[in-house]
Amino acid sequence: MPGKHGRDIADLGLAPEGAARIEWAGRGMPVLAEVGSRFAAAAPLAGFSVAACLHVTAETANLMRVLRAGGARVSLASANPLSTRDDIAAALVAVDGVSTFARRGVDRARYYGHIRAALDAAGGGPVLVLDDGCDLVSTLHADRAEMLGRVRAGVEETTTGVIRLRQLAAAGLLRIPMVAVNDSGTRRMFDNRYGTGQSCVDAIMRATNMLMAGRILVVAGFGSCGQGIADRARGLGARVLVTEIDPGRALEATMEGHQVMPMAVAAALGDVFVTATGNRDVLRAEHFATMRDGAVLANAGHFDVEIDLPALADAAVTRRQVREQIEEFELTDGRRLLLLGAGRVVNLSVADGHPAAVMDVTFAGQALALARLAAGNLLEPGVHPLPADIDAEVARLKLASLGVAIDTPSDEQRSYLSTWSHGLGSTDS
Ligand code: NAI
Repeated sequence: MPGKHGRDIADLGLAPEGAARIEWAGRGMPVLAEVGSRFAAAAPLAGFSVAACLHVTAETANLMRVLRAGGARVSLASANPLSTRDDIAAALVAVDGVSTFARRGVDRARYYGHIRAALDAAGGGPVLVLDDGCDLVSTLHADRAEMLGRVRAGVEETTTGVIRLRQLAAAGLLRIPMVAVNDSGTRRMFDNRYGTGQSCVDAIMRATNMLMAGRILVVAGFGSCGQGIADRARGLGARVLVTEIDPGRALEATMEGHQVMPMAVAAALGDVFVTATGNRDVLRAEHFATMRDGAVLANAGHFDVEIDLPALADAAVTRRQVREQIEEFELTDGRRLLLLGAGRVVNLSVADGHPAAVMDVTFAGQALALARLAAGNLLEPGVHPLPADIDAEVARLKLASLGVAIDTPSDEQRSYLSTWSHGLGSTDS
């Protein structure tokens, strides 16, 4: 059960190790650091209690520090038991004063217990919430509805969370305003595309130590994540096959030079399979039945439902751990399928997740959005976009940190771009 003392973590003794990691990650987060300096000066979150459900990583710890610098009281639960770093959880409690409820590998009941504890720790309920996958917001609505009146607004980090929020809203059940930071331009570019692309391919290579060149890698879903994975795998010399259900995305994959085909065909061809759809049962019994011996299965989507794990277990005569984070399923005909990270989000469960430079951008957007929500007029319950000026500000700060300068339009250019009547009355043909 979650501890009574504002925390449930594995081992407080791990705090020094965690603190060193947080500091290292912070070096790669100049945009968030700049936001942190602004927060320390202006205290935009003074007096606000914030409950968060995020992956408990060194980057998240840097975001928690910035919120604390802005004056917030913060409680944190993990968004995935396998992505939790126990040393970071310890440092958050011991060094940063964040009420943290996160232990690596806890079961489902304790996972949700942690989310409820993070809500309860915000004395009477949080005023602002941060979510990654909508588990905190759905727990708030299902188990702590009495707190909803106190919640001013929140931000959601990932695609799956935004889909669930929109479903709640469509059913008329969403009772708080939520900003879909996930949908902002900088977030999609950095997190879903470059971050997921690099870190998922990195996770597959770390877990298996395989040479990517010459392999056939099948990517299911050509959204932002799938595009990033396909790009990076191709860059390493893999031949990429793409499966899709959306004709526009399938066309884009084709025009990018990837081979597009149904999974029923790709299943028999691939060496490595990565699901990145936000959907369920994308790899299932009929696909396992035709896969090659030694095929590697990984999931990049938020939930562990993209690979039909019960069907994989049913198809196997034996299963055994053959390497850290690789479980081998031997099928009746002797073929062996290799599942990475228990089918959970592979870059977080097998590797270090996104590089800090990626979370730098998305967490800066989160922090600025929370400050705006704290200061601004109340929004209607529903799903709202990140204000465009915040997205542009994050891009500006990131460019500045990279030492990249851009042009500024002249007054004539601004006027030209805002006029519809160019050329009217001209005598040119
Ligand atoms: P997206 O919505 O942009 O793309 C998903 C694509 O999958 C769409 O083009 C859709 O048509 C396709 N799709 C849906 N069902 C399919 C099926 N049965 N077969 C083939 N294609 C199918 O979503 P995005 O942003 O690319 O995210 C995908 C998943 O990855 C989500 O669960 C999201 O939460 C997660 N995610 C994971 C991250 C990580 O660090 N691993 C980071 C960001 C998002």
